[in-house]
Amino acid sequence: MAQRTVPAISREELLDRVNRLPRVPFAHLPTPLEEMPRLREALGPRAPRLLVKRDDLTGFALGGNKVRHLEYRLADIRAQGADTIIVANVAQSNHARLHAALAARFGLTTYILKIPSHKDTPVNGNLLLDHIVGARIVEASSADPAVVDRELDELAARLEDEGRRVYNVPKHPSCKSDGSIAYLAAAVELLGQLEERGLRADHLFLAAGTSSGGLALAGKVLGEPYRVHAVSVGGSREQVTALVCDAANGAAERLGLDARLEPADISVYDEYVGERYGVPTPACLEAIRLAGRTEGLILDPVHTAKAFSALIDQVRRGTIGPDETVVFVHTGGIPITFAYSEEILAGLAGA
Ligand SMILES: Cc1ncc(COP(=O)(O)O)c(C=O)c1O
Repeated sequence: MAQRTVPAISREELLDRVNRLPRVPFAHLPTPLEEMPRLREALGPRAPRLLVKRDDLTGFALGGNKVRHLEYRLADIRAQGADTIIVANVAQSNHARLHAALAARFGLTTYILKIPSHKDTPVNGNLLLDHIVGARIVEASSADPAVVDRELDELAARLEDEGRRVYNVPKHPSCKSDGSIAYLAAAVELLGQLEERGLRADHLFLAAGTSSGGLALAGKVLGEPYRVHAVSVGGSREQVTALVCDAANGAAERLGLDARLEPADISVYDEYVGERYGVPTPACLEAIRLAGRTEGLILDPVHTAKAFSALIDQVRRGTIGPDETVVFVHTGGIPITFAYSEEILAGLAGA
């Protein structure tokens, strides 16, 4: 079991710094922390103690980790005096769905520049929710990042010409660090919940991104012994490590922390991606089945199930032992499940 190191900062001080940033609270917090004894048993006698941090239950528009991020983004959107948000993403994007719902709830308008993907039809899952909450959907002409980038700028310029005050999310400097800021606070929430039960986490597993950067940075500055395992769902280990560290270090800068997240501070995996982003692997379909049938826990086939398949694999390889405690951070994405019924049913049939 890993040991605590000397903290650079106390939990109170970290929270105090985070709480000095403007934020509009609307997430349902704290989210529950639950044990998964039946899933542990299903993984065999070498399996660690398993808990799940239910950030799929953040309470707004079907939840997910990004609800925490949006509390900070909304404060900035208001500070900029924007009335229109633009995002660019695929049909089954949680990011797009939650920005669109945010706009509905707070009297703004969201335009989604929709990047072509193999899940454009039928209209279901997140895309259906985008329609329900009134997002304005503009089709991007190609999935080429350079084209998307240009069309995003063109859309912003057109809306500005029409007299709108536009908040172009991907172009905004705090777009990435918001997620890590939110998860510095989430780490303190989780540590408190573990302590109340007399537990300490050795490992945190989740889909890689800005949130994993916040959790890892929190562990580093607080001297907590947990290791963050960030599982890529698309993108190489190098690309994802750079993204995670940049997001975390953007957060560190905004908070005036001296520490920086370095690649050695976090375990990033790219071997669970499979063919590519958005295509389920057999192991992720197994994770969906196992979590569903032992705990009634729903994992989505794009993010959380791939992250969970990494946890299962590491347990089977014996890199994590039965005397350790693992927290799986469920980052949401549930609506995506409904866009993958065929793949999921095929995975269940093979069981
Ligand atoms: C469900 C889910 N989990 C995790 C991530 C990882 O990214 P981040 O931590 O930046 O939200 C995403 C990003 O789209 C996501 O939708």
